[in-house]
Amino acid sequence: MRTPIVAANWKMHKTVREAVDYFRRLLELVPARPPVELVIVPPATLLWVAQKHLGGSVVGWGAQNAYPEPQGAFTGEVSVVQVADLGARYLICGHSERRHIFREDDELVGRKLRAALEGGLIPILCVGETLEERQAGRAWGVVEGQLAAALADLSPEDASRLVIAYEPVWAIGTGVPAQPQDAQEMAAHIRDWLKERFGRTGGRIRIQYGGSVKPENARDFLTLPDIDGALVGGASLDPDKFWAIAQAAAG
Ligand code: 13P
Repeated sequence: MRTPIVAANWKMHKTVREAVDYFRRLLELVPARPPVELVIVPPATLLWVAQKHLGGSVVGWGAQNAYPEPQGAFTGEVSVVQVADLGARYLICGHSERRHIFREDDELVGRKLRAALEGGLIPILCVGETLEERQAGRAWGVVEGQLAAALADLSPEDASRLVIAYEPVWAIGTGVPAQPQDAQEMAAHIRDWLKERFGRTGGRIRIQYGGSVKPENARDFLTLPDIDGALVGGASLDPDKFWAIAQAAAG
């Protein structure tokens, strides 16, 4: 049994006041024992607000990015150790915006993922192809390469804590999600790969879909056999919409 996991990637949005209002509203909506794992991933400036308002609640929270070195002369960076110290439980690794806008390569993504595991965090590893790569018939090859690079040398025990987010780059922030059958096909490929690589543990790793998930289409993805949740950007900025999506994951 894989517990569905629905995560809100706020990206570079919200002030302290807006975050406080959001958390208050979300905690009004979410029951004492939610049927899915709920995660909020705010920008680094709001991690302390999450700690203050979500700490001790059923809603988990994590960081969008962190540097793998524990400390040192890395101006502008925040370390995995520092976000874990604040109480974060999750770390997004390898989001396409970090790969494409900030030129993060597979090697750095892998180091972040390992640092997250060492720091006791749950890594949410994002993988996904661009439109050009899909049109050239290379979607699976690209995703497989991202998995192989980030998860090289990982033990099945470490892998059991992973979450994978399949986010086709062309579906992110465009309002046009993947076709559900294409998302399922990719998730099934990922699942087979994980099983081959990690044995039975591979069958227990959760796979999210991300890319223009909204309350209106959430059910199309969250009822697919190999998709165990969603990583939501734009629609997650509204607590009512985010909770509506989470309810779709609960079936
Ligand atoms: P959108 O839901 O805005 O398409 O963003 C998806 C995403 O990148 C989540 O990490």
